[in-house]
Amino acid sequence: MRAAVLTLLSAAAVAKAAFAPAIIVVEKSLGNAYQNTTVEVHPEYDFSDPAILNQVSTLYQIGPEYTYFCFAYKPDGTFYSDEWFGLGKPLRLSTNNVVVKAITCRVE
Ligand SMILES: *[C@@H]1O[C@H](CO)[C@@H](O)[C@H](O)[C@H]1NC(C)=O
Repeated sequence: MRAAVLTLLSAAAVAKAAFAPAIIVVEKSLGNAYQNTTVEVHPEYDFSDPAILNQVSTLYQIGPEYTYFCFAYKPDGTFYSDEWFGLGKPLRLSTNNVVVKAITCRVE
């Protein structure tokens, strides 16, 4: 029984480790231009770095080769959109900037 539980746990660990992080471009408006910062968002935990997320105009997933289902949190803890963003489906938040509290990405 105990051995079976341990086998299940390690199988889950291996399955998780197989997922590469989502490569997300965080685009920020500078007023007359845009600036991109590329970050990695792991499916196991949310990305929240105020230095990068305090000013965001658009979020793009540019890698890996398959889509992730990503959502951006507002400071109040709700999502900016009920629709996910992912590969070929950017999330345009503002032509200026908004504050994103965190980004979460899931594989399915
Ligand atoms: C930022 O990256 C996105 C996605 O790759 C691209 O469409 C956009 O043109 C880039 N913006 C700048 C300023 O490089």
